[in-house]
Amino acid sequence: MCERTLLIVKPDAVGKNLIGEILRRIEAKGFKIVGMKMHHLSKVEAETFYAVHKGRPFYEPLIQFMIEGPCVPVVVEGDNVIEGIRELNGTTDPAIADEGTIRKDFAENTRRNAVHASDSAESAAKEIEFFFPEYELI
Ligand code: CMP
Repeated sequence: MCERTLLIVKPDAVGKNLIGEILRRIEAKGFKIVGMKMHHLSKVEAETFYAVHKGRPFYEPLIQFMIEGPCVPVVVEGDNVIEGIRELNGTTDPAIADEGTIRKDFAENTRRNAVHASDSAESAAKEIEFFFPEYELI
């Protein structure tokens, strides 16, 4: 089924010049990039985006990390892309991520983990809308 998802190249990966390598892996999997920008999140924006995690012990440091520099939100389209991008990223904790995944190769730890991706069709719709008005998508 053709779907869309939101991937974010997080500030740690942007700072290490990994934008191109991460986009290359997405395209090499056969997925299509249909929207992209560079954006430095404000504190309010980061808190809104991650509101679902409010109250968790990792929430405040996560917000500080996400506002430390620019990120690159990307809308990706393809068959079963929500699951496909999550597989490409690997699990949240790089120590247990599969070989060859983005997080295994580039994440520093569970917080500074290089990428974010939507976890369901419902969150993909919300997260895409958060960063992109319809007219910015092809
Ligand atoms: P992400 O996929 O963007 O979704 C929520 C983020 O919170 C996650 O990636 C990590 O950056 C961070 N996170 C999740 N769990 C933990 C944790 N146990 N410790 C630190 N950071 C976490």
